[in-house]
Amino acid sequence: MSKLRAAITAVGGYVPQFVMTNQMLEELVDTNDEWITTRTGIKERRILKKEEGEGSSFLAIKAANDLLKKRGIEANEIDLIMVATATPDSMVASTAAFVASEIGATNAFAYDLLAACSSFLFGMSTASSYIESGRYKKVLLIGADKMSSIINYEDRTTCIIFGDGAGAVLFEPNREGLGLQDEYLRADGSGRKFLGMEAGGSLLPASHETIDANQHYIFQDGKSVFKFAVSNMADVAEKIMVRNNLKNTDVAWLVPHQANKRIIDATAKRMGLEASKVLMNIERYGNTTSATLPLLLYDFEDKLKKGDNLVFAAFGGGFTWGSIYLKWAYN
Ligand code: UT7
Repeated sequence: MSKLRAAITAVGGYVPQFVMTNQMLEELVDTNDEWITTRTGIKERRILKKEEGEGSSFLAIKAANDLLKKRGIEANEIDLIMVATATPDSMVASTAAFVASEIGATNAFAYDLLAACSSFLFGMSTASSYIESGRYKKVLLIGADKMSSIINYEDRTTCIIFGDGAGAVLFEPNREGLGLQDEYLRADGSGRKFLGMEAGGSLLPASHETIDANQHYIFQDGKSVFKFAVSNMADVAEKIMVRNNLKNTDVAWLVPHQANKRIIDATAKRMGLEASKVLMNIERYGNTTSATLPLLLYDFEDKLKKGDNLVFAAFGGGFTWGSIYLKWAYN
């Protein structure tokens, strides 16, 4: 019997109904469709409006229920729920605990996982380790972010990039050699001055001054982040290929974080992959932070075949980044 591995056995997803186009952003800030399209690859993003629902948990619950329906299991069969998010419903009480209760996962423990745009990638490692321990059989990992809750729609350097959404995957034990094969994960705290949110945490609690100074919005030094992202994402993707003796012809799909099409193209180029092997939906959703990777699996699930070699790669605030090699487990 081959080694116990953690395989993805189901995928769910949800994006809010409201579509914010580049043309709409032209009304809000000094930008234009041509600039956004050529610099980022983004055409539109989804925004969660109050009339539809509130908080990242709303998105996470939708994605989780979609997954449960598709997999045909009851929520009370789940052992653990993790919500990867940079925009939890609130501080202290985890969003995952609320999601678990709302979907009826009465036998699960639950907590959040925060590593900015790498949250879901790191969560894949955590979820897989629980399965590989043999103690848990069904681990639900959800990536959910309501980025619009921390965006300043007067700041053209951030508002054009981010969108809201959620995706979910179920990890289960596999003895056929399928599932997570290898991972290469990294962090560098010197990066937090280039991307983050200044106030609202223990370092700088909320006050009248922090609100007046717009410190509860996400900021980024785009050029610096771009430089780190483009080299590190390509480096780790290449490293994981070399370490696992994967040639470009062995890789079926690159599943890259959707921050900027130029970063994705550079990663694919370093891996020697043609564009047809690169999963991409950035033009429709923008950067949904923790939701980009599972939303790719959700959108392109029909194309994935049992045994396919998938290479995931992400880069995010912190800085955090990494790559995961996974064999797809179902048709
Ligand atoms: O997911 C987490 C990790 N995040 C990332 O990976 C994001 C990484 N960074 C990026 O994707 C890119 O740096 C951005 C898309 C944010 C910006 O693209 P860029 O090619 O690096 O542009 P830039 O910041 O170098 O700005 C170029 C020019 C500047 O004007 P000047 O100084 O050349 O006159 C900016 O002021 O473009 C201007 N600019 C804009 N123009 C129109 C900046 N933002 C905009 C805008 N519309 N929205």
